Amino acid sequence: MFSIDMLYKSLLALCHIRRISSANIEHFRKRIGAHLDVTGGERYKKLDKLLPRERIQMLVDPGSAFLELSFLAGDGLYGKDLIRSGGLITGVGVVSNKLCMIMCNEFTVKGGSIYPIGLKKYLRAQEIAHECKLISIHLTESGGAALPYQADLFVEGGRNFYNIAKMSAEGLPQVTIVFGSCTAGAAYVPAMCEENIMVDRKGYVFLGGPPLVQAATGEIVSAEELGGARVHCIQSGVSDHFALNDQNAIDIARNIIMNSNYEPSDSWAEKFTAPSFEWNGDLLEKLSDGRSTLSAHELIKNLADKNSFSEFKKFYGVDLVSGFCHLAGINCGVVANNGMLSEKGALKATSFIRICSQRKIPIVFIQNYTANKNKVTLEQEDQRGKAIVRLMSVLACSEVPKVTLIIGKSSGIENYAFCGRSFSPNFLFTWPAAQFCSHDGDSSVDMENMEEQQDAVYSSARLWDDGVIEPKDTKRVLALSLSCALNKPIPDSKFPVIRM
Ligand code: COA
Repeated sequence: MFSIDMLYKSLLALCHIRRISSANIEHFRKRIGAHLDVTGGERYKKLDKLLPRERIQMLVDPGSAFLELSFLAGDGLYGKDLIRSGGLITGVGVVSNKLCMIMCNEFTVKGGSIYPIGLKKYLRAQEIAHECKLISIHLTESGGAALPYQADLFVEGGRNFYNIAKMSAEGLPQVTIVFGSCTAGAAYVPAMCEENIMVDRKGYVFLGGPPLVQAATGEIVSAEELGGARVHCIQSGVSDHFALNDQNAIDIARNIIMNSNYEPSDSWAEKFTAPSFEWNGDLLEKLSDGRSTLSAHELIKNLADKNSFSEFKKFYGVDLVSGFCHLAGINCGVVANNGMLSEKGALKATSFIRICSQRKIPIVFIQNYTANKNKVTLEQEDQRGKAIVRLMSVLACSEVPKVTLIIGKSSGIENYAFCGRSFSPNFLFTWPAAQFCSHDGDSSVDMENMEEQQDAVYSSARLWDDGVIEPKDTKRVLALSLSCALNKPIPDSKFPVIRM
């Protein structure tokens, strides 16, 4: 006998998230390994230097999590040179109980000089800090612009300094620790931040270093005399705090943040200190090995806190799943697609986003475009197009925090309508099986290089997202991202003219 439940189940059968191949995961892990490899780090250890990730680890509150962004930036972009993590490590962490964006030069690669992708990453980190009202902490040691690429850096490069001034004017504290040599463009970061700290006999700030001075003037001068901590703390005034060593500099920075009279992250900071989040099942773990597939419903069930998911319009526009839930205690909406977005699905999403905006509830978007195209008439296609235009208009103007996760294919208009990069989600992460493409390869000419360009590592290297994550880390990363995006009050949404 016919039941509404049977109808629903038969529709669901069409909507399965594609299997992650173990090749995707292996490729991703291999690349991560390459970026983490600090062979050659011994040279710096001998000089009594902390490696970049050690600097970050010592800065953040003990036991707290660090949400690292765009780990694979720059992968494969510079020929034989692997510019690890794009030459700049960025991420959100808790320092003295306040949420901070941390930006740390990878000084062990090409003297920490700034490559075009590193600059792009710097600007993205500042954009997140601005959007989420985070304190900025710069851990600097850099030879300035990467000289072979200076033509690609010069014009955009100034934006970094512009942002520092504008964010300060908006009341966002910014602090720099000068751990090593900061030349040329890198010298402007400590000089423009509200407060900076210099480490004695290790930190240097100058526009041109001793070799350049000698070449230009013939004068032989030591780095210490030219721009050491003593010069800048006692004579020039460029620096505000004199640190005896690395640990002392970190302690001073933590005190500055503590005394900054900046809003503590109160309950949201707790999410960062929680060691891990409970899973409702082990499906996501299995996915890492490419052994399972799951539907959008199963995925949401795994992500949502126990029994918290309440589905919106369950039987209408079933190619799209939407509903409210709690995710690690955070009340949020979820919008997930399975395949081609229908007119009904788009109408449902539009209505759901308006409710979230009214109630000021953040939204998690899950993209999975599975190319199971249904046959549609021209008129149906027309109606679908109109509904998607309305959805994009409402999405663009909804002021609630948004976090996007791409787990499968993301192409065509679905990329935009489900809050792709161009619709400015606060964060966008992908799974290793994610694929970006302007149109669906199954229905167009398939070229070899298109395959390569659709790979998640390829996309992440170019900063089309904020990082590739393993499925098992999904809940944790989403919770941290939502915590961050909720660091500022949610404004009222003002919607645009909606066309008929
Ligand atoms: N652009 C491109 N590469 C740079 C660079 C820059 N601005 N600064 C340093 N490097 C590279 C070096 O060529 C070297 O590359 P290699 O590993 O392939 O040999 C590597 O970084 C390490 O440099 P090195 O001088 O050996 O290390 P160091 O620790 O003794 O000194 C610096 C590091 C940054 C202090 C020093 O290299 C320096 O002063 N660089 C010049 C900075 C400059 O003039 N910048 C102007 C930018 S507009």
